[in-house]
Amino acid sequence: MTASHGVTLAIIGGSGLYQIDGFEAVSSHRIETPWGRPSDDIVEGQLEGIKVLFLPRHGRGHHIAPSDINYRANIAALKMLGATDLVSLSACGSFREEMAPGHFVLVDQFIDRTKSRPSSFFGSGLVAHVSMAHPVCAGLTGRVRDAAEEDGLTVHARGTYLAIEGPQFSSLAESQLYRSWGCDVIGMTAMPEARLAREAELPYALVGMVTDYDCWHAEEEAVSVTNVLEVLSGNAEKARHLVKTLATRLAGPRHPSPDGIETVLDYALVTADDK
Ligand code: ADE
Repeated sequence: MTASHGVTLAIIGGSGLYQIDGFEAVSSHRIETPWGRPSDDIVEGQLEGIKVLFLPRHGRGHHIAPSDINYRANIAALKMLGATDLVSLSACGSFREEMAPGHFVLVDQFIDRTKSRPSSFFGSGLVAHVSMAHPVCAGLTGRVRDAAEEDGLTVHARGTYLAIEGPQFSSLAESQLYRSWGCDVIGMTAMPEARLAREAELPYALVGMVTDYDCWHAEEEAVSVTNVLEVLSGNAEKARHLVKTLATRLAGPRHPSPDGIETVLDYALVTADDK
């Protein structure tokens, strides 16, 4: 089996995550996509024998706010560089006592309350409707879970992610409402990223790295940048190692996603071919 049949793992790093343990950078790509430029140059390198593409979601130095991220360019650029699988890491708040700061949550569902972000590659004469019933790749998520367990992390195997527009954190009434909806974690960046990954036929897994209890918890301080930053660097350290452990598990021939994510557009395009 040649290297071209292996995984090219794309990593989108969230706040505080700008490096990966053991990553040997080979080149850096400044890409222009039909949707503009991604958040930063994408670094290509080798990790445990697999090809890895790394993109910091907020740009190096964290200068791009959640609403200003060019999500379409980020996904398109990774796809153009040959990504076969995408693992996204993102700081989040928790709606569950048992999902404590410092824990990782493998998100498997979303409720999207963002409101001012382009969220599709389609439109403007080309109509497609992809299924988002199961928005993450179960196979890839399972590999991340195995890697997290190998690293000794406290990891929750599933969770529903509530995406807000931000940049402000939620009010108490909103926080209580989202909890009553059954949401597990909250963040500002995984949507429309997950939607676009699906449209790009890119298997996607999301690691929510819990930094706080938002503002619903009676005994914990309401979320603030200060308490997020206190937990962020410890989470980033765990994430840097998690990606390395994951890479060892993805080495070798690539197995297609069990849900056929790589071919979803075969069943999603509505616009006639001869248009
Ligand atoms: N990112 C980290 N914590 C968050 C919270 N409580 N709400 C939204 N985004 C977050």
